Amino acid sequence: MEMRLSRYGAASTRPAPVNRMMADFATDFRDGVDINLGVGYVNEATIPEAQILEAMRTVAAQRTQYRQAFNYGGPQGSPNLIASIRRFLLRRYDGRLDEATLARREIIIGPSGATSLLEAIADVLAPGLVVTGDPMYYIYTNTLERKGFEILAVPEDSDGLNPDALERQLLGMDDAVNRVSFFYFVTVNNPTCSILSNARRHALAALAARLSREQHRLIPIFFDQAYELLIHDPAVEAPESALRGDDMGVVYEIGTLSKILAPALRIGYMAGAPGPFLRAMVQKTSDVGFSAPLIMQEAASLLLDEHIAGQITRVNTGYRDKARAVGRAIQDCLGPHLESISGGQAGFYYYLGLRDVETHEQSPFFRYLTRTTGDPAIDGPAQNPHPRVIYIPGEHCVHPRGALVAAGRRQFRLSYGFEETGAIVRALGIMREAAAYAATCR
Ligand SMILES: Cc1ncc(COP(=O)(O)O)c(C=O)c1O
Repeated sequence: MEMRLSRYGAASTRPAPVNRMMADFATDFRDGVDINLGVGYVNEATIPEAQILEAMRTVAAQRTQYRQAFNYGGPQGSPNLIASIRRFLLRRYDGRLDEATLARREIIIGPSGATSLLEAIADVLAPGLVVTGDPMYYIYTNTLERKGFEILAVPEDSDGLNPDALERQLLGMDDAVNRVSFFYFVTVNNPTCSILSNARRHALAALAARLSREQHRLIPIFFDQAYELLIHDPAVEAPESALRGDDMGVVYEIGTLSKILAPALRIGYMAGAPGPFLRAMVQKTSDVGFSAPLIMQEAASLLLDEHIAGQITRVNTGYRDKARAVGRAIQDCLGPHLESISGGQAGFYYYLGLRDVETHEQSPFFRYLTRTTGDPAIDGPAQNPHPRVIYIPGEHCVHPRGALVAAGRRQFRLSYGFEETGAIVRALGIMREAAAYAATCR
């Protein structure tokens, strides 16, 4: 006998491809032996554990400022944290976002990180077409598809997403503009870590405003800034907020403290125009059990007020050093095979395209690295295989019906976040062997 599942329930009974792959690998992952370049985990050494614990102790002790920190919070989020985020945004944009503009925007805190806000958007907005970049943030696009949305993924160029190409593609599709539910762009893209320039960011916001006027309805544009505080290459222009200049109120910016403080805080926020959409978002937070645990919100407020500048510098110094060392090892180990490379300036991913080596889950390259070739000389003993290396194959990052499907079969995302540099360099050495092995299988 079967239960009657909702459409979403039925679509969710099969794990998403990346979840399945990671779960397979995680069951017998050997610390210090196997190397995980697939997970989006932050580097443990960047998490300021002592500061977080100290902040929690201070919050617990200062009951006047941090009232009832161990009780339920409200659905919009802690007023202390919201005020701290406002101050933080003004400091961070350093004159490029003025107080008056920000004062016209509301800030809400999600129940569980930026992820929960992204999920809420999909419940609150009417299903339709979601326009995003390709390669795309596969975790969210997968959620959206299970919730009945259709994805239009527009290929990035070497500088990220091109608004003119996007407009051409959108207008070239029958009835597409009518069907657009919202725009979703990741400003430091996951998986490519390409950085959306300020000019392109403002052009995308202007396009959303123009189409909104033509459609006589607001078409929101969400900028997911998950990695924007991790721009570690000093040569990159300082990002601007698209809230400035957004007279219609179509722009919403989504941030998270996961990457600069700790994912376990589960603090994600959204800033944008007040109105029915934001009220529905707050109601959704209430429906799922209120915003993030209050003690975490209060501790985050204190950390933002007192420690965040030094913390961001420390985190970025660490990732910059890793990006350089890993970038050199990529050239050393995979140089002759490399067709394209992006990343290394922000966030903690490189996205690589190989000229002559396939990377998908059935490919010899992948099977060599996961020690599933069937050849004992390569795989090692069944009970204790040779060191395995996992990455995110490009086939899962590109839209399955988009223009990048063929290229995606030769691409992959390599994370330099979680593992230490020595292990990543070792993994790249094994990738060199895997590429040589793949050549013998042709
Ligand atoms: C593009 C993007 N958005 C959002 C998130 C989720 O952030 P949070 O930990 O706040 O849920 C991630 C996490 O990896 C991400 O890559």
